[in-house]
Amino acid sequence: MFGVDIGIDLGTANILVFVKGKGVVIQEPSVVAMNLDTNKICAIGEEARQMIGRTPGNIKAIRPLSEGVIADYEVTRQILEFFIAKAVGHRRLFKPRVVVCVPSGVTGVEKRAVLEATTQAAAKDVYIISEPMAAAIGCGIDISAPSGNMIVDIGGGTTDIAVISLGGEVVSQSLRIGGSHLEEAIGRHVKRVYNIAIGERTAEQIKIEIGTAYPREERKMNIRGRDLVTGLPCTVELSSHSVYQSLEEPIHNIIDVIISVLEVTPPELAADIVNQGMILTGGGALLDGLADLILEKTHVPVHIAEDPLTCVARGTGEVLKMLDKLRDGAILTSRSTFKA
Ligand SMILES: Nc1ncnc2c1ncn2[C@@H]1O[C@H](COP(=O)(O)OP(=O)(O)OP(=O)(O)O)[C@@H](O)[C@H]1O
Ligand SMILES: [Mg+2]
Repeated sequence: MFGVDIGIDLGTANILVFVKGKGVVIQEPSVVAMNLDTNKICAIGEEARQMIGRTPGNIKAIRPLSEGVIADYEVTRQILEFFIAKAVGHRRLFKPRVVVCVPSGVTGVEKRAVLEATTQAAAKDVYIISEPMAAAIGCGIDISAPSGNMIVDIGGGTTDIAVISLGGEVVSQSLRIGGSHLEEAIGRHVKRVYNIAIGERTAEQIKIEIGTAYPREERKMNIRGRDLVTGLPCTVELSSHSVYQSLEEPIHNIIDVIISVLEVTPPELAADIVNQGMILTGGGALLDGLADLILEKTHVPVHIAEDPLTCVARGTGEVLKMLDKLRDGAILTSRSTFKA
């Protein structure tokens, strides 16, 4: 075996690379810093993320994947090239085979863009798998069993919900609401209530530290931003109850879609799901109280996957082991089986 096989979770918020035999070797934010004078990328990943909101006029930090799909094709290709090289080395004689995941709701054009960008970025054969399918495999679910399994993957830009049985998605929905929308809601709230402008990174910190979907005891946090009246830097104390008010609406939108998926799930599969519970994956699964709220609203048991941020990448890793068996089937799409 000369080539190496790798799995990529091409997410809106994070890119993860799994190398067969090694595990997840790269886990970095999907951000690049562009020099607008030269139109060249000057930093990728964590280094670029540090620059968000802190760049001079000629440098811009951008997220080339928006809502789970390729918004900037050329930059995405360069990111893939960079991380594939970082994961397997530059001067390999044999190009790797790559399994890459996309959100379940993508259009044919978007799928084609991922196929092409990955192939151009240095891969020999590229196979696409849907994100909830990879997440389910990463959670250790036997997707080929005649049993209903429900996956809710809450990422940075999208929430993918799917009921899987016998190796296929029986029902699926992709909703373009994810963690970044919760941050935007927090930013708008702080601006409206306190007249303070905060950056994207501060909003994420607030979400992770005191954000909640199910308010219980009150937690507090000091936040820094710019007072919009005086124009000066300032600090205010923010409470979890206040943050909750801003999160309520986007979270309920997500739960409404979970309920609508349950409503159209065939009865036998619905019975399996009530027995086994649904599984939450993606970084959004870590939001405080979310599992409790979903249980309360749906009456279905809810499990948070182990290490939800790496579930999809580990799933692509499992697929690599079965690549020769799976590549002609319905789970993977390649250039030769692609239908627009
Ligand atoms: N402890 C936490 N509480 C709440 N949200 C969190 C937590 N940790 C991470 N997140 C959020 O999870 C999101 C990233 O999750 P993930 O890496 O699964 O997304 P992604 O796969 O890149 O996105 P997508 O699947 O939509 O393309 C970010 O919005 C991040 O703020
Ligand atoms: Mg994801």
